[in-house]
Amino acid sequence: MESLKADTLIVGARVIDGTGAPAVERDVAVRDGRIVAIEAPGGLAGWSADQTFDAQGRVLAPGFIDVHTHDDTHVIRSPQMMPKITQGVTTVIVGNCGISASPVTLKGDPPDPMNLLGDAAAFKYPTFAAYVDAVNEARPTVNVGALIGHTALRNNHMDRLDRGASPDEIAGMRAQLEEALNNGALGLSSGLAYGSAFNAPPEELQALAEPLAKAGALYTTHMRTEFDAILDAMDEAYRVGRHARVPVVISHLKCAGPSNWGRSTEVLKSIEATRDGQPVGCDCYPYNRSSSTLDLKQVTGDIDITITWSTPHPEMAGKLIREVADEWKVTQQEAGKRLQPAGAVYHNMSEDDVRRILSHPATMVGSDGLPNDPLPHPRLWGAFPRVLGHYARDTALIPLEEAVRKMTSLSARRFGLTERGEVKVGYYADLVVFDPERVRDAATFAEPQQAADGIDAVWVNGVLTYREQAVTGARAGRFVARGSASKLDAQGAF
Ligand code: ZN
Ligand code: CU
Repeated sequence: MESLKADTLIVGARVIDGTGAPAVERDVAVRDGRIVAIEAPGGLAGWSADQTFDAQGRVLAPGFIDVHTHDDTHVIRSPQMMPKITQGVTTVIVGNCGISASPVTLKGDPPDPMNLLGDAAAFKYPTFAAYVDAVNEARPTVNVGALIGHTALRNNHMDRLDRGASPDEIAGMRAQLEEALNNGALGLSSGLAYGSAFNAPPEELQALAEPLAKAGALYTTHMRTEFDAILDAMDEAYRVGRHARVPVVISHLKCAGPSNWGRSTEVLKSIEATRDGQPVGCDCYPYNRSSSTLDLKQVTGDIDITITWSTPHPEMAGKLIREVADEWKVTQQEAGKRLQPAGAVYHNMSEDDVRRILSHPATMVGSDGLPNDPLPHPRLWGAFPRVLGHYARDTALIPLEEAVRKMTSLSARRFGLTERGEVKVGYYADLVVFDPERVRDAATFAEPQQAADGIDAVWVNGVLTYREQAVTGARAGRFVARGSASKLDAQGAF
């Protein structure tokens, strides 16, 4: 008879399996990186294990998938990945908003906003295959899936980024995208609001997206605008999806700018109407302030803007641009010019819109954290526990099971991460145990680099990686390729 031996037993937990199903008491056995048994309480009594973890009174859930990150170079430079593993995140998807660390060849400094990923020295991956090797050599604590950035491809093939690409340039970009897709990239991302891609016409995106369908990949987009013309920008995204016959994910969906506040109902209706005909979804982070490089177009005086970094004036980090302007006795525009290059937090959303978008069934959770920012938006360290604590528990926006679904199975299915995102026999043992009464984000705008409370233990590929507010030192993450179409469980993914 086969001996019932596991590496780890997790007993007594309320299991939230990631599908949205109600929590149930279960004991779970893990062996060789996979979940091998799930039984009613006491059902694993005949098993032995190297480690048994008592999870009485705790929730056991699939490790969280951060679908929107800019961790491309961070997973290699800082493989402990403290901002993410401390939240219970076990997989990050890099390469969002049109900017990816690979495939990239620079001619000088990285163009805005590729500088969010690091300085020129951080861009060392001329091919996607080289990036995959670097991730696996670095062995981060978390798994890494990757999108290919449209702006990164433009950087490789164009002499200037303030125009549309020529047919030859598009062909060169497509060849690089195809190389990446052949090596497991999840899809193409764009960042059309940024100057480095704003003048790319819709036809450029449509042509570039054509190879995605055959690979089972998807298109994600930081849209051309999130301000008053947001519905047009959404239509542009849908058209790319229809043209290339691929699913579309709208990144960090928001109604930006006071004149646009309250329009989330309309915006979500647009997604719902479109979903009848083509796969469309979105992600968001659970905060009413955004963050990126400092964009002078957004320095209009009608919202507060906090400076988070400035290359010529690092001493201004933490101040409002209005305060900097007063101190220098100049206009906010002039202050913005003098601060460049710089990073900023924009106080540009209404809380009602954030709640409406976050609670919509089409919405996944993604942090959009900026790990190279010295004063990062707190979403970097707090996004996932904030959804569980502040939004699900304290303000009862959504049930806990639904919150977990938005960070696990929904994300895995949409991005083609097979055998992840659920507590299910045969799946990878990416797991988190948390205290549903205590879990909460500790990161604030003033003190953003703080580990969450209430995350008790995290396993990645079956390896205990975080416990009692400390990393164990084990690093078991790996590059994860897009799953083969035959294994994809796309049902209900969009
Ligand atoms: Zn973005
Ligand atoms: Cu982003």
